[in-house]
Amino acid sequence: MCGIVGYLGEKDTKGILLAGLKELEYRGYDSAGIAVLQDHDFQSYKAIGKLVNLEEKTKEFVTDSFAAGIGHTRWATHGKPTELNAHPHLGESSYVVHNGIIENYAELKKELVAEGVTFLSQTDTEVIVHQFEKNLKSAASAFEAFTKTVSQLEGAYAILLVTKSEDKTIFFAKQGSPMLVGINAENEKYFASSDTPLIGQCTDVNYFEDGDYGYVTKDEIAIFDATGTKKEPIFQKLSTNKLSAQKDGYRFFMEKEIYEQSTVISDTLLGRLTETEVVFDELDTNLFENINEIKLCACGTSYHSALTASYMFERHSHIKTSVEVASELRYRDPILTPDTLFVVISQSGETADTLETLKMAKKAGLKTLVICNVDNSSMVRLADASILTRAGVEKGVASTKAFATQVTIFWMLSLYLAQKRETLAADEITKQIQLLREVPASVQVSDTLHERVKRLSKRYLHGHGFFFIGRDVFFPLALEGALKLKEISYLHAEGYPSGEMKHGPIALADPELFTIALLPQHLLYEKSKSNVEELSARDATVCAISPLVFDKADDYIPTQNHADYMLEFFEMMVVVQLLSLEISVRLGNDVDMPRNLAKSVTVE
Ligand code: F6R
Repeated sequence: MCGIVGYLGEKDTKGILLAGLKELEYRGYDSAGIAVLQDHDFQSYKAIGKLVNLEEKTKEFVTDSFAAGIGHTRWATHGKPTELNAHPHLGESSYVVHNGIIENYAELKKELVAEGVTFLSQTDTEVIVHQFEKNLKSAASAFEAFTKTVSQLEGAYAILLVTKSEDKTIFFAKQGSPMLVGINAENEKYFASSDTPLIGQCTDVNYFEDGDYGYVTKDEIAIFDATGTKKEPIFQKLSTNKLSAQKDGYRFFMEKEIYEQSTVISDTLLGRLTETEVVFDELDTNLFENINEIKLCACGTSYHSALTASYMFERHSHIKTSVEVASELRYRDPILTPDTLFVVISQSGETADTLETLKMAKKAGLKTLVICNVDNSSMVRLADASILTRAGVEKGVASTKAFATQVTIFWMLSLYLAQKRETLAADEITKQIQLLREVPASVQVSDTLHERVKRLSKRYLHGHGFFFIGRDVFFPLALEGALKLKEISYLHAEGYPSGEMKHGPIALADPELFTIALLPQHLLYEKSKSNVEELSARDATVCAISPLVFDKADDYIPTQNHADYMLEFFEMMVVVQLLSLEISVRLGNDVDMPRNLAKSVTVE
């Protein structure tokens, strides 16, 4: 996570860096900083907390001539979120910003300290700038010193470095963390860790590959690959559609994104359904050839959509399916057989753990597919095949519409596979396609529903914990509901399979234990109902979400009478999202940028 930007040109460098950081702020907001090298003189500013603090600090700072500038917004990994730990980090006459983790920083630091170098921060990043300056003493040029420095680093990084010894240049290196450079007709050069800050500024961009490093001057973009061979940049046109999310009158991006779900799900369905068939033009017809198993792998919310998918793949497509948490899969010795399709799911396409599992699967020779929301992201570029979820930019740190579109894709994909494997009758596929077309309506937020959730939320602000419970696909939805609540309310919440409560957790039941019960009418209703009754009999406070009135609950949020449990799933998804939102609002929390979190987790 973290976000980095760079600019080389004659315009208002400070303004450009701050505007770029604004676009990336959702990736980390523990601190932010910039360093600008102008007229052979450095100016650097850092501030803890959100970007407004840095904007305030730099109010008097004017940049009006050719300059090389770098900036960073931080999500702390090594060292507390203090000003000293904020980037850019200074050596004697150079500054560096970095996204990722330098794994061998401790040993490099030990050597440097032994040689008399003083470190100001607790970060792994600071070692880069000191190592560079050490190398500079014996190198013929700053580039030679930078090249040597890069070769000494282990771990994941996207680095920008500026130095007085080459004052009209920005040095860069990329390994495992995303970074791109953009150009325009005015001969300016922009860097960023994702393309959003460059939209509207650049016409063409080059996405760096792992191992790339080099430098950029006014007239040159010099890129070298991991073997030191010079290569040409590969420019692609950058979209001009800013998509820059405005709140459109909503109080929070998360709220706007919950309301947007109907539209983005329609976009997700677009062109992928006929009356009788699911069509994925982006998939090679032979993708599923010789495939007997699917392994899904992801983190967080995307993991919950993968869990939901596993029910659908086994039920509709009769294919053995397993689901893995990426950070776990990476470090065990999984059996990966070539008849398995390896599917990663990621909103950002940059999550470090998920990306690494994708690399593992590719290395093991598996066919790979990514379900992703960001075109051109690292995962999309790496996987054999990709399906884009079309949720649009998701700004709220707590994911909502990305999850909704992922589940929509999985429902479609399970039918697509059912067609291929002939595991569902044609009329069943036609029926499910009709149901899929009803999803956008099922997630529309009515005033009545929102008002009801808002009113109820005031009863759920305290207590000693929440259990979200459900069966079948409503179990991953329960996990997702609990995750949403945890993230933005900071209250303890767990998702549990309804039938599992009696095997331990029911010991916690008392009036201060809040149970959010997902009770769809079309899936295991009676069984789920008895599990909830067991809890109300022990005086737990129960809030039932169901189309059927449930008199053993303390509170009841009525949902509509849908024709199928998947439509109930989507409506209940909206209810749990709204419930978290309203509880967080009442608690006075920062809904869009909850504490300790960041949008895109590009460190392991
Ligand atoms: C939760 C949330 C995170 C992400 C997780 C994976 O609201 O946003 O749990 O789902 O960090 O991120 P992606 O999907 O970008 O790989």
